[in-house]
Amino acid sequence: MLDISLPESLDAFWMPFTANRQFKAKPRLMASAKDMHYTTVDGRQVLDGTAGLWCVNAGHCRDRIVDAIHQQAATLDFSPTFQMGHPGPFALADRLAKMLPGDLDHVFFANSGSEAVDTALKIALAYHRVRGEASRTRLIGRERGYHGVGFGGVSVGGIAPNRKFFGSLLPGVDHLPHTHNLEQNAFSKGQPTWGAHLADELERIVTLHDPSTIAAVIVEPVAGSTGVLIPPVGYLEKLRSICDKYGILLIFDEVITGFGRLGKAFAVDYFGVMPDLVCVAKGITNASVPMGAVFARSYIYDAFMHGQESAIELFHGYTYSGHPLACAAAMATLDIYEEEQLFDRAASLASYWEEAMHSLKGVPHVIDVRNLGLVAGIELESIPGQPGVRAYNALVNCFEQGLLIRTTGDIIALSPPLILEKHHIDEMVERLSHVLRSM
Ligand SMILES: Cc1ncc(COP(=O)(O)O)c(C=O)c1O
Repeated sequence: MLDISLPESLDAFWMPFTANRQFKAKPRLMASAKDMHYTTVDGRQVLDGTAGLWCVNAGHCRDRIVDAIHQQAATLDFSPTFQMGHPGPFALADRLAKMLPGDLDHVFFANSGSEAVDTALKIALAYHRVRGEASRTRLIGRERGYHGVGFGGVSVGGIAPNRKFFGSLLPGVDHLPHTHNLEQNAFSKGQPTWGAHLADELERIVTLHDPSTIAAVIVEPVAGSTGVLIPPVGYLEKLRSICDKYGILLIFDEVITGFGRLGKAFAVDYFGVMPDLVCVAKGITNASVPMGAVFARSYIYDAFMHGQESAIELFHGYTYSGHPLACAAAMATLDIYEEEQLFDRAASLASYWEEAMHSLKGVPHVIDVRNLGLVAGIELESIPGQPGVRAYNALVNCFEQGLLIRTTGDIIALSPPLILEKHHIDEMVERLSHVLRSM
């Protein structure tokens, strides 16, 4: 058994997206995990309501993935993929290309969602340039969008605190309006019916700048990190058709929705809307080894495959693009998804999940519940003058009650591993309801 004991001081680790001083005064530390549960350092079981951070879709510490990583580490720990290779990323890309619909047939590997997003944005810009449309340099994101923490992703992202400390970011970026509207859509089950017209704002931005200047639009099909915003019926279809009209690439950031979260392999399948590029990460390896990827449609890849054959077609890549351990972990992860039919399982649990989540309507402080597939957002009324405090207190209390939830502002997000059973859903609702009533 691996034993990593805590140092005397927790000071050295500068924790990401965390109130460091608050956390270190009263830490929440996990020691191990298996399937649906974490075990804390003080030996308590915590039900994982968030699949880690939307990523452990097949449940924790799955033997098959552990063995694959172990064997790969002992066989080929690393090989470059710049002008060199090993079978792993070729086999994985071929398998992924077969999983994705249509001609989303080419895969560029990265190591995280942030890197996947920046890769997709760069591919979009370069694509227009290699086709002789170098004037297409503008990128369009969306308010409340989260696309990781690279400069590209932050620039197209729309969460103010993630942006405001970091200077002027990328130039030439616009944002669509977000789709959140409690007056119209509170307590919607599945896709809300109000809001498709918000996609028309893209027409306004295009007219303002001239279509010949716009490279790409990027959105999360279901916005996760901002607190679960489900796309209104017809919204994504509209974005697609406006992009088609003006020759703009549409990028879906499926870092959260990819690999079964909605009850289909990808949101592309769920909504039946085909983007030009898709970003994934997280569930690709069940979070066991970091990996991200961009799927590109054939005409995008083909546009680069011209000119002298000895010339590098895209000046982009990471030392660890297609890392052997990540590839091995991903292959084993896909085996589990397939053999246990976890995406179908998510689909078959979705209506039970929906009913359970909506049973929280009427519980103190709850002002909205929204859901799709195995995702739910539960919005709480903010304590006046103290935004985010109510949900943070719920997180702390839930953790003490043995439930891991995720919060953004005053929104609780739930996104459990797809292996969960109905009784886990019941437990989540019971504990959450108990915590909210006691607050
Ligand atoms: C939609 C989306 N894109 C990108 C990212 C960034 O991924 P990472 O944290 O692996 O860089 C996330 C992370 O939550 C995400 O939800």
